[in-house]
Order: sequence, then C-alpha cells, then structure tokens
Amino acid sequence: MIKAIKGTKDIYYPEIEKWQFLEEIVIDVFSNFNYNEIRTPIFEETALFARGIGESTDIVGKEMYTFTDRSGNSVTLKPEGTASVVRALLEHSLQKAKPLNKFFYISPMFRQERPQAGRLRQFHQFGGEALGSANPYLDAEMILIPYIVMQMLGLNDFSVKINSLGVPESREKYKAVLREYLSDKVKDLSEESRRRYETNILRIFDSKAENDIMIMNEAPKILDYLSNEDIDHFEEMKNILDDAHIDYEIDEKLVRGLDYYTNTTFEIVSGSVGAQSALCGGGRYNLLAKELGGVDIPAVGFAAGIERILLACKNEGLLEFDPYPLPLFIVLLDKYYDRVAYNLSLYFRGQGVETELDYLRRSVKAQMREANKNNAQFVLFVGGEEINDSKVTLKNMANGEEEKYSLDSLEEIVNKIYSSDEG
Ligand code: HAM
Repeated sequence: MIKAIKGTKDIYYPEIEKWQFLEEIVIDVFSNFNYNEIRTPIFEETALFARGIGESTDIVGKEMYTFTDRSGNSVTLKPEGTASVVRALLEHSLQKAKPLNKFFYISPMFRQERPQAGRLRQFHQFGGEALGSANPYLDAEMILIPYIVMQMLGLNDFSVKINSLGVPESREKYKAVLREYLSDKVKDLSEESRRRYETNILRIFDSKAENDIMIMNEAPKILDYLSNEDIDHFEEMKNILDDAHIDYEIDEKLVRGLDYYTNTTFEIVSGSVGAQSALCGGGRYNLLAKELGGVDIPAVGFAAGIERILLACKNEGLLEFDPYPLPLFIVLLDKYYDRVAYNLSLYFRGQGVETELDYLRRSVKAQMREANKNNAQFVLFVGGEEINDSKVTLKNMANGEEEKYSLDSLEEIVNKIYSSDEG
C-alpha cells in the first residue's frame, strides 16, 4: 500500500468543513480591507528563496524541498509566500500600475521539518502582503487582519508579540554589542547557538536550551540600539494598535527565522497548542524588493498557519458543527421512475436547492436512513400510486407534515423549501 508522505495530510469530511469555514472568513476579512488575491506557482527557482529568505536561515539551510528538474535547473517547492509575491510584483512591474499593492494568498507551503503536532512538511498558510509603503498603519493592519480572523473564529487564548529589528545599520550596531556581550559566554552556549554566534547571531534568541535562555535574558536589548527613526516608526505602530484596542506585549527576543525583516516583527501565539505555538508571524521587509530586483519598494506582511489555527480552535472547543442540513433528499419508491427522480433532482438543483438522491439503488428504508444521515430538511417521495396522477409527496422532516404536489407545479415545492429556510 502506498501511503501519503510523512508530514503531509489528506483533508476530507468532516474536517474539510472547518477549512472551508475558515477560508471564507479569511477571504471576507481580506476583501473588507481591499486586498486582492494572488496565486503564485508552487515551485520557483531555488535562488529566489536562497536570496530572499537568507542563506544562513534554517529554512534555506535545512528545510527546503529542492531538486534538480529534468532540464538541470534547481527548483524549490515554496517554503513561504513572501519571496514569490515580491518576485511576481517585480516581474510584472505591478508597482508601476499601482503605487500600493495589497495582496493576500491561501496556499500550501513546504518545509522538511520534523513532523509533530502543529508542524507539517506540507502545511497551509493564509497571508497578506502590502507592497509600496512604509506607513506604520500597514504594519498595524498586518496584525489587525489575522487578529480579526481569530476573533471571528471565536479564539480567546492568544496574544500578540511585537518587536523592532530596526534598519540594517542600527541592527549591525546592536549585533556588535551582542557579540561583545557573548564573547566570554560562547563556550557555555549550546552547540547550535555556538554555530549561530558565527552565522546568524540574533537567532540565538530562538534557542530552547535552558542555559542559552538564561544567558540571553541578561543580554543587551535591541530597542536600546535603534535609531530615532526606527523608534518613531515603532511608537506610531503601537499607538495605532492601542487605538484599535489590540493588546500586545513587546518581546525584544522576537527576531524571527527569515532574514528579510527590517523594523517591525510580530507573532500571534496561542496558549492552547503546545510547543508550536506561533499561529501567525510577519513583519516589515523594506529591502527585499531591492535585494531581488534592484527596486526600492517598502513592504510589510504576515502569514498564518491554518493547521495550527484549526488545532487551537479544536483545543478551545470551537468549530464543532453539526453536519450542514441538506434541503432536499429524493426517495425513489419504485425503480421504474428513476429517470423521473433524476430529472427532478436536476430541476431542484437548477433552482438552487441542494438536492441528493440515492445512487446505490437501495431499499426505501435504506434511502430514508441516508436522508437522515444527510440531515435532510425535506424528503420528496417519487413513485407509488400517486405518480399515476402526476403527483409527488413532500415530507417536512422537522414536523413530519406531508403534502402532495403536482409535477406541473414544482415551483411550489421550491417555495415551500425556501420559506421553511427563512423560518
Ligand atoms: P513563518 O513564521 O515562517 O513566516 O510562518 C508563518 C506561520 O506559518 C507560522 O507562524 C506557523 O503558524 C506556520 N508554519 C510555519 N511552518 C510550519 C510548519 N512546518 N507546519 C505548520 N505550520 C507552519 C513566514 O512564512 C513569512 N512569509 C511571513 C511573512 C509574510 N512575513 C512577511 N510577510
């Protein structure tokens, strides 16, 4: 038996209803903020991610699904969406068509991480990217949008963390201070952190090793080394979040795992999902377009993990729906009329009434069981004596009421079903 690849999942009923419910909310909220959907390819030239996300990051160094295709090109399944959106913007010169482009996406992403609860190899993100402005209102908006989505899902147990990494000049100054602080402590750090000391010093803040955490708790704080402009931008964003009544906490250890960030970084973390607690992450990346295409386009964005959000919903007892009611189930009383029944189903479907009937040629009893399983609101009986008078019987499953209708006045059945829906 061939099985699905480790760290990937099939998504089907009843779980799929939760995905559809979430995706509808996501699309509604993005549309409400006037974001446009963008769909980029599932794979890209490897160099896009290597340059965009950064050679020294875990994603590029250890986690990408990279392979050589039959033409000898190195291609990579996208591990995240931001680099692709920037590539698309530059490739189609969309910054010339509109000075500010606001995009959203819902897409699978691929990272070869060790699978565990909330961590998959093919996972799904919804994300937003606003390209063309350094306005702090957009930084706040990138927190506001996932925040609203989570509220609409009914989630309670989550919190917002924000930080600023400043522009590269102030960050380099800070890195030098951090290097100095750690110089006599490197030997006590974990092996991973000793490596990061050389390659990507800020990421030592992400270490889970107890001793590393103790050392980093005492480290100089990044916000003390930022320029006045960086601090002003950060303060403005905080004021906007305050006005929008969004609670947040400043976390100066929030350095994030991708190299493209400048100024704002943030995460929304859940208290209910265990170790993989980041439901959403993002920040500003004012230099990425320059890095990838030589054009200055300040930008900010976020991405949220759909599996993790659904896990948080499950742990908070949310989205436990009853199966959706089915407006109409047609029960065939004798096989001879199966064409009539099928044509009736097409008529009702054409009128926008979701309709099902039995394709398995089962007994009337079994058909009724199926109607109940489908949570049918009405059952239409086709066949029996009455069909000789061109009549069918409609049964209201909520109260057991039965009424006969003529095949010449099917619109009455449609009206009956719709009017019961309104009630
Ligand atoms: P990220 O923090 O790498 O950022 O991923 C964003 C979210 O995707 C995480 O908070 C998490 O919920 C989910 N996620 C990441 N890896 C996995 C995994 N292996 N399994 C399940 N869920 C996962 C980005 O991807 C950036 N592109 C965000 C961004 C957009 N920054 C600016 N614009």
